[in-house]
Amino acid sequence: MGYYKEFDDLMAFFIEEIVIFADCHNKGYGSELMTTLQNEVTANGAEHIELISVNDLHHMHFYEKLGYYKANNLIMMGKHLS
Ligand SMILES: CC(C)(COP(=O)(O)OP(=O)(O)OC[C@H]1O[C@@H](n2cnc3c(N)ncnc32)[C@H](O)[C@@H]1OP(=O)(O)O)[C@@H](O)C(=O)NCCC(=O)NCCS
Repeated sequence: MGYYKEFDDLMAFFIEEIVIFADCHNKGYGSELMTTLQNEVTANGAEHIELISVNDLHHMHFYEKLGYYKANNLIMMGKHLS
């Protein structure tokens, strides 16, 4: 699940969520989905893919093997509304 973002200098695709059924983990389906997604958004004109990841070894391994890097100049922010 995600959406295209048109910036002034490029178009990006933001991955909001990716989920593979738990019984099917570690069989390459997630990587295959990400590669298919990359090919499709590239064909549609996107030059960059962004996402916010769970910060653990599993997710870092998954994304880094697909060529993703940590954006060290960004930090997640939130505000609780009571
Ligand atoms: C993240 C997710 C999409 C990956 O899907 P998948 O089909 O299991 O992915 P793949 O099989 O292509 O790759 C998984 C890789 O993680 C590795 N891995 C699994 N558990 C790991 C762990 N605890 N630590 C490090 N690596 C781990 C696997 O060995 C595999 O790497 P390899 O191909 O080098 O052997 C899937 O785990 C998922 O749906 N998780 C729940 C939802 C979620 O967390 N979404 C992402 C939010 S940021």
